[in-house]
Amino acid sequence: MIGFRQTFPVIKSPYGTRCFTDGFFFSIDRRWTRFKHRESRWECEIPVIKRSHGRSSPIWGSTNSTVGLSLFQSLVRSDALPIQQVRTTCLNHSNTCLNLSIRYTYCHKFSVSSSVLMGTNGIFTEDHLRHIESLATFPSGAGKISHLRATNLGECLSSEEHDLVFPTPEFSDKALVPSTEKYLEMYRRSVRDPAGFWGDIAAEFYWKEKWDCEKVCSENLDVRKGTVEIEWFKGGKTNICFNALDRIVDNGDGDKVALYWEGNVPGLDDKLTYKELLDKVCQLSNYLKDVGVKKGDAVVIYLPMLAELPISMLACARIGAVHSVVFAGFSAESLAQRIIDCKPNVVITCNAVLRGDKPILLKNIVDQAITQSADNGVSVDLCLTYENQSAMKKEATKWQADRDIWWQDVVPKYPNTCLVEWVDAEDPLFLLYTSGSTGKPKGVLHTTGGYMVYAATTFKYAFDYKPSDVYWCTADCGWITGHSYVSYGPLLNGASVVIFEGAPNYPDSGRCWDIVDKYNVTIFYTAPTLVRSLMREKNEYVTRYSRKSLRVLGSVGEPINPSAWRWFYNIVGDSRCPISDTWWQTETGGFMITPLPGSWPQKPGSATFPFFGVQPVIVDEKGNEIEGECSGYLCVKNSWPGAFRTLYGDHDRYETTYFKPFPGYYFSGDGCSRDGDGYYWLTGRVDDVINVSGHRIGTAEVESALVLHPQCVEAAVVGVEHEVKGQGIYAFVTLVDGVTYSEELRKSLILSVRNQIGAFAAPDKIHWAPGLPKTRSGKIMRRILRKIASRQLEELGDISTLADPAVVDQLIALSDC
Ligand code: WTA
Repeated sequence: MIGFRQTFPVIKSPYGTRCFTDGFFFSIDRRWTRFKHRESRWECEIPVIKRSHGRSSPIWGSTNSTVGLSLFQSLVRSDALPIQQVRTTCLNHSNTCLNLSIRYTYCHKFSVSSSVLMGTNGIFTEDHLRHIESLATFPSGAGKISHLRATNLGECLSSEEHDLVFPTPEFSDKALVPSTEKYLEMYRRSVRDPAGFWGDIAAEFYWKEKWDCEKVCSENLDVRKGTVEIEWFKGGKTNICFNALDRIVDNGDGDKVALYWEGNVPGLDDKLTYKELLDKVCQLSNYLKDVGVKKGDAVVIYLPMLAELPISMLACARIGAVHSVVFAGFSAESLAQRIIDCKPNVVITCNAVLRGDKPILLKNIVDQAITQSADNGVSVDLCLTYENQSAMKKEATKWQADRDIWWQDVVPKYPNTCLVEWVDAEDPLFLLYTSGSTGKPKGVLHTTGGYMVYAATTFKYAFDYKPSDVYWCTADCGWITGHSYVSYGPLLNGASVVIFEGAPNYPDSGRCWDIVDKYNVTIFYTAPTLVRSLMREKNEYVTRYSRKSLRVLGSVGEPINPSAWRWFYNIVGDSRCPISDTWWQTETGGFMITPLPGSWPQKPGSATFPFFGVQPVIVDEKGNEIEGECSGYLCVKNSWPGAFRTLYGDHDRYETTYFKPFPGYYFSGDGCSRDGDGYYWLTGRVDDVINVSGHRIGTAEVESALVLHPQCVEAAVVGVEHEVKGQGIYAFVTLVDGVTYSEELRKSLILSVRNQIGAFAAPDKIHWAPGLPKTRSGKIMRRILRKIASRQLEELGDISTLADPAVVDQLIALSDC
């Protein structure tokens, strides 16, 4: 092998290259093609894939064709490849060297091009990413596939085993859904008879009054037929807090640990049993009632990952109040914007939190936000503040005596029992703001009954939950993942949940695995960005811990690229834990497309198949459903219980954003392809939303933040590939006439975004732009900006329609300034 490498340096083909002792493999569309140099001739062998028992195994056949055009044409003719067209140009070849330019067009019309230089000696170069940059547009016009996603697809198409990763028989035997057949049986019923399927599941929960059995679900998703409306279990009276706590205690599990809290600093921890958690929730509920919070009132929660965060959510739910959690990384401006929109009487926060070594003064941020909201006519009368002693003492906290009150001074004095407010299944449970394609965040509204049933059921099946599991999700409750899969989903199942206040790389990159061993975590659910950042460090950070408790892994927030998937699977999970790559959204309330561990083989990078009751469809730009293997826009037919019911105060925007683009369907905003085996591959957002480390950020929000800077007249923001974060934020900024570029100005522009939105939205790059490429009607051509941002300058396309084509050269010239 090594000897061979000396003569054949590793050459990367579009899908990877492997060296072999007497030649090398060059992977074409997942088939490893063997090239040999023999007796002054190049020969190639293509594998013919035979499928048996659901597994593919290559059988080597040889074409013995000679180099150049004929070689690749014979590959196509051999029917071994699902390629529609291959254009090959032999740039030159000799006895010792073969130089080809190849362009493949796949059935679902991805084009891939690459130039390959292969040789028997000497140094060979190949920019293996070039093919990825040229992955072409979806046939549907869903837009250019992102560079990173293309890398993912390229990678997964390349993977040598291609690549069904089978669950072990031991896992499947014990799984809740042990086989594909069982899944199909359940799935078919869920689609054919949603009322029966979900009604049976809902009956496992406590309902004070049963829903109208005639009408488990009533829906209109079609704007052409009138207002969009979704209702599940209407008329049923229940309470999600009762189901998540009282019901578990009443079932005899009061002494089971509900929450293990792990602090930022190792060694600082705490735990609460279901009974203790219920006591604390009741005390807070009583307090909130006492200060006048009633059913339907909004309460804003701005807390880090302390146990008090789920406690606050559950306490609101218990009394029928509507919580709106704002991620504690949002700035005062963003918090104010949300307060102004939902007008809470009470804000719950804490004085400070430590992120690594750094204290963040949350109470000061809340103070500013409340002042700003008051200036906009929305006053908050009460700010209940938890003293987070490990970060900051009471005495050091800024205080406004007529408004602020210490949690510890009042809440523990209240009784630890509190009557439940029974609410209708369709009464609101929470509001969660999320980014869209305008500057104004959307208040996604979820109601009680359907969300409860859906969050609990998706949790149970997608993680194959067993009562003995210890579950840890690294998400913050400020995002939907923390709502459905830190708080409600697991607690409704009576699970023991780890919550972690700190940063995953503090004090070092082994922290996660330290926590896994400490609590014997069995299910670990995280985001690809964390996996990618940890895989950059030495594996020793992982392997020094046992991790033998782990059983199931999970991923959420963005597509997980196959190499991260494999690292997660092989290194973290010791090649024995299935990975649930869960595709879903704030709007969907719970998982929509996800593996069910143990039920079917996985393909690294694919979210696999739809969850029960979910009918995904891929449509083209005209809204026609595309069957079979295809790419396009991901939509959903029919409602599911966890679906959001409206955007708070703006039902028009709800319809316009989600139901008008493709009438008759819910439009997710994501692009997607489906392969020949029916597996779904998410390809990223097709709207103006960027996904940075799994956090949704609207380009328009960042633009509005930039133009608030006094020296900025115009800004255009696009997403670019980022190795760890998935996407990074790239901002083109036009300055006020006469202002000169400077490092200081760059920093202050970035600061403007941090102040307006939060540190997680800080642009990675500010690109000075004397002008922006606009059409004659003044529309910014983002397509061109994306190309400039990702340095795909040869692919700028037609720029003649621009009002001033010269701006493009100016921008290119300023690329590295
Ligand atoms: C993306 C987070 C691919 C997607 C739960 C979606 C994913 C957006 C996945 C929603 C996944 C989330 N594979 N893409 N497994 N999970 N996404 O509302 O673009 O913060 O539209 O909800 O994240 O982000 P949100």
